[in-house]
Amino acid sequence: MTSLLILNGPNLNLLGQRQPEIYGRTTLQDIENQCLALAVELSIDIEFRQSNSEGELIDIIHKSRNTHDGMILNAGAYTHTSVALMDAISSAEIPTIELHLSNIHAREDFRHTSYIARVAVGVICGFGAYGYQMAIKAILNHVDK
Ligand code: DQA
Repeated sequence: MTSLLILNGPNLNLLGQRQPEIYGRTTLQDIENQCLALAVELSIDIEFRQSNSEGELIDIIHKSRNTHDGMILNAGAYTHTSVALMDAISSAEIPTIELHLSNIHAREDFRHTSYIARVAVGVICGFGAYGYQMAIKAILNHVDK
């Protein structure tokens, strides 16, 4: 059975309360429930994780090497700063989709840079919580090729 890791970075635990005008009112728990429902429909396994710590995110990515077929990563602000996360994805050799709730290209200039995009299969942003459903279908299509 295909197994996916959906990994969320800093501050995403506050979804629903955090700047709802940008990120919406859907909580991370709501998103996890939506992803798990889609996983049942598609007969796949999903591990859903969140951490505010860069080191923990890196450890989780390392472990995904032998346990998951693909990853959906919303690295939050680390997207724009973390060479270490980029290197972790390359080291784990796991096909990855970069995901953001907001359209990072329509926001501040510092959000236009992504280290993750350099090693990702593709990027989905701007579709809010629905982006997770899009990303699950997109990474499945990629790994099933
Ligand atoms: C985000 C976009 C990032 O720029 C920001 O730092 C986040 C959330 C998004 O999902 O839109 O924390 O990744």
